[in-house]
Amino acid sequence: MKILVTGGLGYIGSHTVVELLNNDYEVVVIDNLYNSKEEVKDKIKAITNKDFQFVKGDVCDKNVLEKIFIENKIDAVIHFAGYKAVGESVQKPLMYYRNNLDSTLTLLEVMNQYNCKRLVFSSSATVYGKPASLPIKETFPLSTTNPYGTTKLMIEDILRDIYKSDNDWSIAILRYFNPVGAHKSGLIGESPNGIPNNLMPYIVKVADGELECLSVFGDDYDTVDGTGVRDYIHVVDLSLGHIKAIEYILKNKGIDEYNLGTGNGFSVLQLVKAFEKVNGIKVNYKITDRRAGDIDACYADSSKAKEILGWEAQKGIDEMCKDAYNFVIKNK
Ligand code: WQD
Repeated sequence: MKILVTGGLGYIGSHTVVELLNNDYEVVVIDNLYNSKEEVKDKIKAITNKDFQFVKGDVCDKNVLEKIFIENKIDAVIHFAGYKAVGESVQKPLMYYRNNLDSTLTLLEVMNQYNCKRLVFSSSATVYGKPASLPIKETFPLSTTNPYGTTKLMIEDILRDIYKSDNDWSIAILRYFNPVGAHKSGLIGESPNGIPNNLMPYIVKVADGELECLSVFGDDYDTVDGTGVRDYIHVVDLSLGHIKAIEYILKNKGIDEYNLGTGNGFSVLQLVKAFEKVNGIKVNYKITDRRAGDIDACYADSSKAKEILGWEAQKGIDEMCKDAYNFVIKNK
């Protein structure tokens, strides 16, 4: 079986390509290297001792996509490619709508043209907005508070409409909670350029001395210690969720949404403490004002993924913290 992975050299994409190769799938990656590095290709090969096809290109480019489908019999697609910074999306909405929607529509048109109707889509828990209760189930109301999240919700709706028009499609929409950590080899991981937006990469940079102090965005939320609570999930667990989703859509038609989280919520300060303990290092922090748009707490009910996909997160917060820091140490 041959799988096309868009954005396959990115953070979650590269970890998923590793697991696809480990499970004896053939892989074609298309990536424009906007938020990834070509050297990740060699890291994936070093981890798996397997080769795969890499096409440097943009998913918005129909000619590039058609060439891939002409030259390969693609059995299914995992679609990661897209801009994903919440704050940047607020500043540059047009760039986000153009890129995330245009790339997806082009991909879907070409898939349809070449009769490839099996898709795993990278969505996000951000489509739930501020949940009325916890844990979050897939049936909860959907609403978004930023253009990034809105592109994810719009694409979900496009996929649901496509399935309504043609029941030949097999689509798994995966709603990620907060992906963190790295492959245990330390060869691949999350390496954001510049100042990270997200908590874990910021903690790692403070621990490593690259940044001076972590700003904890508010300690007056309605949570265990006043700081924001999130459902952190190890990126390898998340990647294995994609393998289960691929196995499922190769056997079943239909469209469905799945939460990929651990079901455990950790506050900012709890994550800092776990990171310090498991890595034996101090993380300097100060409490600052809330970040606009943040919600108090968010964690998943992932029982549907367990029941239907046979997937469940295995790794705990300590392993997430250890692997996240190991990646930075190994790549100094
Ligand atoms: C986590 C917690 C912050 C940074 C976002 C997107 C989501 C997904 C994951 C793409 C919050 C606090 C953070 C910092 C802090 N991305 N924080 N200081 O906002 O839950 O989710 O990233 O799919 O779609 O919305 O993740 O890591 O930014 O924040 O105190 O320097 O850490 O307030 O409580 P978030 P995050």
